[in-house]
Amino acid sequence: MGPGPSNPYPEVMLALGKPVVGHLDPEFLAVLDSTNDRLREVFATSHALTLPISGTGSAGMEAAFVNFVRPGDPVVVGVNGVFGERMCEVASRHGAEVIRVDAVWGQPIEADRLLSAHPSPSIIAVVHAETSTGVRNDIAALGAGKGDALLLVDMVTSLGGIEVEVDAWQVDVAYSGTQKCLGVPPGLSPLTVSDRARGRMVERPTSWYLDLNLLSRYVDGGSEGGRVYHHTAPVTMVAALHAGLGVLLDEGLEAVQARHASCGKFLQDGLEELGLELFAQAGHRLPQLTTVRVPDHLPGGMSEADCRRLLLSRYDIEIGSGAGPLAGQVWRIGCMGHTARRRNVMALLGALKEVLCS
Ligand SMILES: Cc1ncc(COP(=O)(O)O)c(C=O)c1O
Repeated sequence: MGPGPSNPYPEVMLALGKPVVGHLDPEFLAVLDSTNDRLREVFATSHALTLPISGTGSAGMEAAFVNFVRPGDPVVVGVNGVFGERMCEVASRHGAEVIRVDAVWGQPIEADRLLSAHPSPSIIAVVHAETSTGVRNDIAALGAGKGDALLLVDMVTSLGGIEVEVDAWQVDVAYSGTQKCLGVPPGLSPLTVSDRARGRMVERPTSWYLDLNLLSRYVDGGSEGGRVYHHTAPVTMVAALHAGLGVLLDEGLEAVQARHASCGKFLQDGLEELGLELFAQAGHRLPQLTTVRVPDHLPGGMSEADCRRLLLSRYDIEIGSGAGPLAGQVWRIGCMGHTARRRNVMALLGALKEVLCS
C-alpha cells in the first residue's frame, strides 16, 4: 500500500509466466496491437499513436518532452509536487525555456494561472495525479483554453484509477506507468499522442531510443513497408500489460474507478476516525493515493520510519514515506489496482490502530 508498485492482478502474474516469443513473432504482434487498442480504451482516445514505451513512467516523461521541445521553446509547467518539479528539470534539459507555475503542495493548480502564464507557450504541461501530495489537478479547462499550445499531461498515477478522458479533455500528449492503478509491475510507460502533436514532432530528437518517429515504424503495423525493427520490445511486460488492461476492461472502467473511489473514501474516513489529519485539500484528494500527516507524538518515542517498519514487519503492510520536502511529515498510502480492495484498507486501519494506540 505504498505509492507504487501496487500488487499486480493475478491474471498479470500468470501472463508473466508465458513462453517468451520473438518481438516480430506474429503472435506477439497481435498482442501488441491489442494492447494498444486496450490502451486507447483506457485513455479514452482515438489517437493512432498510442503505445507502451519501454521503460518506467520516467521514460514516458522523457519521451513526451524530447519529441516535442525545441531549444528555446516556452514551456509552461505546473508545479505542486515532486513530479511537476521533475517535469521542469526534464523540459529544461531538452532546451525549453521553462515557465513555472507553482501552487502550494497539497493544493491543486488553478487552470487560469497555467493558461495566462505565457502569451504563446508551445507546451502546457501538468501532472494529473501528484503522487507526492495526493492531489488531483483538473485537466478539462486546460484543454478548452490551451489555444495553439500542446497540452502534455502526466497520467502515471491517474490512469485506471480515476476518470481519464484524453480526447474529451483535448490532451495532446499523455503518458502513464504500469505499476500504479493498472495493476502491472513497473517496466512500461503507456503513451498517447494526438495527430495535432504528431505534426509538430521534433524530426531528429536527441534521444534515439525514445524517438517516436522511429518507434512508430515498429508499432504501427499498418504503415507502408510493414514493421521496422527498432529495439527488442519487452515482450513479457507487454503480455503482462495486455492482461492487466484486460482485467480493467472486463470489470469495466467505471466499476474500476468506483472501486478506487470507495476504497479511498473508506481509507480517508478511517484515518480521520483514528484522529489523523489528511494532507491534501478536500475536493481534490486522490482516492488511489492518500497523504496523511504523521502525528506529532508517536507511542514509545517511535519515529515515523519505525512505524512504517513495524507495519511492514508485523503486519506485512507497506506504506510510503513523504517525498521531497514532505519527508518525515506525511505518509503516503496507495490503494491502486489490485491493492484497491476494502479488505486491504481494513487490515491497514486495524494495524495502524494497534501501532498508534498501543
Ligand atoms: C506522477 C508521477 N510521474 C512520474 C513518475 C515516474 O515514474 P517511474 O518511477 O515509474 O519512472 C511517478 C512515479 O512514481 C509518478 O508518480
